[in-house]
Amino acid sequence: MICKVSKKKITPFMSFGKMPIANGFIEKTDFNDEYFYNMEVGFSENLSLFQLNDHPRPEAMFNNSYPFFSGSSEYMKNHFKKYADFIKKNFLKLDSKIIEIGSNDGTMLKNFVNGQNDIIGFEPSKNVAQKAMKENVPTLNNFFNQKNAKQLKNFIRNTDVICASNVICHIPDLDDLIKSIDLLLSKNGTFIFEEPYLGSMFEKISYDQIYDEHIFVFSITAITKIFKLYDFQLIDVQPQITHGGSMRYVIKRKNNGTPSLNLMKHLEKEKINKIDSIESSLIFKKDCENSKLKIKEKINKLKSESKKICGYAATSKSTTILNYCDIGPELIEFICDTTPEKIEKFSPGKHIPIVDMSHFYKNQPDSIYLFAWNHKDEILKKEDNFKGEWFSHVAL
Ligand code: TYD
Repeated sequence: MICKVSKKKITPFMSFGKMPIANGFIEKTDFNDEYFYNMEVGFSENLSLFQLNDHPRPEAMFNNSYPFFSGSSEYMKNHFKKYADFIKKNFLKLDSKIIEIGSNDGTMLKNFVNGQNDIIGFEPSKNVAQKAMKENVPTLNNFFNQKNAKQLKNFIRNTDVICASNVICHIPDLDDLIKSIDLLLSKNGTFIFEEPYLGSMFEKISYDQIYDEHIFVFSITAITKIFKLYDFQLIDVQPQITHGGSMRYVIKRKNNGTPSLNLMKHLEKEKINKIDSIESSLIFKKDCENSKLKIKEKINKLKSESKKICGYAATSKSTTILNYCDIGPELIEFICDTTPEKIEKFSPGKHIPIVDMSHFYKNQPDSIYLFAWNHKDEILKKEDNFKGEWFSHVAL
């Protein structure tokens, strides 16, 4: 396997086996044509970069019917409002231009629509981009890359803020990404983004963060090293609780701003916890194998007691769990979800029926596997009437 940034050879340290497209919720008639790839992960030691080996082409994942909507969680809507306030307070002027990479349904950019700031969202998935446009969020239905960035003449070297959430780890060609940012960002501009954090994934053993769209799981050390290659510098980080543990990264051009003490503290913590070396990845591998055994044991025990089990929220993350742990409809009867695009389809690979919430309320199970464990507070509050047991592979 080749590191996607340094182009140096690395050895994959773990395989999760054959995986389908994580968001590839499928119709019965398409079962025989389903796409699978071998999901292996490797760690590039010189860049401390945790990454997938093989993965489907981005066009196969972010297409005309991408079923993820940022606005599907009330908590996330509120999170994006606070994230936008942070940007406005610290980095945005009244007449600044702002770009969001992977703007999805416009949930984040909506917070900047004020008639003064020039706003553009790049969103390759047509259906979500259309939703944003319907709500008057200026959106280009296209991938963010140098070719498309060059079309935005007024934004070249003139954009004060480029932001992103849970999307930079989706982009295999980081070289092109950073060159596109270089092309658009103003002299004192800021690139700010949030991604699931490697340290949190190791700590929670949340290996369901690994799937086709998450080509990288970043650490602070990796981001520092990668951006340095392109004359950018990481100047601050802020841990976030979103997506089960994320990190917000603030990037400036070299010689613009000084790295914060907070950043130094977090970098030191990564060194102490060996997140910057392959050692922690090898421990994580053992943790994943143990977690798989435990989850199988738990579900088999419930089944032997004739308990009815269902899944709650057909997340992309659940695709990794179900396929790696070999859990199909014989063990989990159905998965309930609020997304119309997923309902009446089947889970990728294992083909568990996805049903709407009314089905869940009418067919109450004894136990629920909470696949959206990252939205635990919001969901448990909403489903307070459910008296059965909630469980997951991470501590709830
Ligand atoms: P998320 O963890 O953001 O998904 P992913 O792993 O794909 O990033 O959860 C989004 C999914 O969870 C989406 O299919 C909608 C579903 N969901 C519910 O069904 N009910 C809820 O209350 C919440 C918050 C999410």
